[in-house]
Amino acid sequence: MAQQQDLLKKIIAHAKEYGFVFPSSDIYDGLSAVYDYGPNGVELKKNIRNYWWKAMVQMHENIVGLDAAIFMHPTVWKASGHVDAFSDPLIDNKDSKKRYRADVLVEDYLAKIEAKTNKEVAKARKRFGDSFDEQQFLETNPRVVANRQKTEEIKNRLYPAMDRSDMAAIKQLIEDLGIADPVSGSKNWTEVRQFNLMFSTQMGSTADGASEIYLRPETAQGIFVNYLNVQKTSRMKIPFGIAQTGKAFRNEIVARQFIFRMREFEQMEMQFFVRPGTEMEWYKTWKERRMNWHLSTGIPAEKFRFHDHDKLAHYANAAADIEFEFPMGFKELEGIHSRTNFDLGAHEKYSGKKLRYFDSEINESYVPYVIETSIGLDRMFLAILSNAYTEEELEGGTQRVVMKLPPFLAPYKIAVFPLTKKDGLPEKAREIMDGLKGDFMCFYEEKDTIGKRYRRHDAIGTPYCVTVDHQTLEDNTVTLRERDSMQQKRIPMNEISGIVAQSLAMKTQGL
Ligand code: GAP
Repeated sequence: MAQQQDLLKKIIAHAKEYGFVFPSSDIYDGLSAVYDYGPNGVELKKNIRNYWWKAMVQMHENIVGLDAAIFMHPTVWKASGHVDAFSDPLIDNKDSKKRYRADVLVEDYLAKIEAKTNKEVAKARKRFGDSFDEQQFLETNPRVVANRQKTEEIKNRLYPAMDRSDMAAIKQLIEDLGIADPVSGSKNWTEVRQFNLMFSTQMGSTADGASEIYLRPETAQGIFVNYLNVQKTSRMKIPFGIAQTGKAFRNEIVARQFIFRMREFEQMEMQFFVRPGTEMEWYKTWKERRMNWHLSTGIPAEKFRFHDHDKLAHYANAAADIEFEFPMGFKELEGIHSRTNFDLGAHEKYSGKKLRYFDSEINESYVPYVIETSIGLDRMFLAILSNAYTEEELEGGTQRVVMKLPPFLAPYKIAVFPLTKKDGLPEKAREIMDGLKGDFMCFYEEKDTIGKRYRRHDAIGTPYCVTVDHQTLEDNTVTLRERDSMQQKRIPMNEISGIVAQSLAMKTQGL
């Protein structure tokens, strides 16, 4: 675990040093859980977004795009349930004045018990060697059995209390477990209260009678309220989908782990409208397609897993997360939800407008059911970054940090270097750069040794470096160096484009 936390720290430092991600308002010591994307970050993020758009919109004739506004009519959030139910249980410590999510305090307590059990298991495995039977140990070791029973009891109190929104029961649980403030050690807690995660602001001037509006906490509602506009103008027939990428805002209480949990983040969501009764089939299809998309980035399959939800939100009849093994362990990366007709039904009720679809195949009019795929772009960015970050020992005892990004996602595709700053080499390198930059993101560099320039481009994941030397002036050949293998070959300069283009091909099967 310590090693993994270490990896996260290294990734955060690397992301800052190489212009991927900066803390927001850095010169003012940052703003909690808000981040800015630097020159390399913005390219990588755009490439991930484009790859998602390609898989969802370009590859599906029955999915079209939308870019709805962040501000929406306040009643949207009443209808969606966010005004009444989009909240976390909050508790303050009266001595430290620190604020916590009450359920997270209990979950951290559970994690400590689990860590103790894991330690016992590790110790026993060492003691018994090959003859160790983990299952038997878990079922018979008195300390482990007691810990597991305690865990079950705590879960059986926490989750039903959360479902009932029973704040008093959660407070009682914290007191019964003797949970102390992790910072001050104090047990002097306030009551637990619900805290709505939506940011609000005023629209219009107060003299005009300004109204309170919200920064959207999910992009999905922009799709729901536009579903008939899109269906009619694009002449879509069910089943069809609407895809959208854009900012979402949540006043997260426990905001930590870099860009994993942010207060301002970007979502890539697709709502797929289907005939009632067919939703389970489509739910299964979208689970498969979305997993295929993740695998098509080249990240190994063992880094992903599904987590099917046992407890479902009131509007869902099936839900699963695609979890990714981040440096801090397996965590939610994407959600796939069968949302029934809850949202469209609620918007019909609150707006008084019919949101029905006439299905000419069965001669029936209905409110469609919806399968949603919802992924955080920033989380995907972190997944890509943490999978790509590689420290390598090289011959001669040197080291390099290389970002093994899939070439189609890399910020720059080609770096062009003149070997020296004289003898007409920069002019020749510029000529090559000018021939390539219309098709690829290229970077021109003439400072430092070639070795140092290679290292800088390894660190940002540039798949190819092209070096122009004196021979280039004679025969128009260059040295092409590949990032991962570090192999160099001499090629005619007019072949660069073809080789690079080939490496950028995206896998589109099964998407
Ligand atoms: N429309 C459904 C929806 O918003 P969600 O599970 O709350 O569902 C979907 O969010 C995805 O958005 C998550 O799987 C995650 O990738 C991303 N996400 C949610 N909250 C986030 C946050 N605070 N920071 C970064 N990404 C977040």
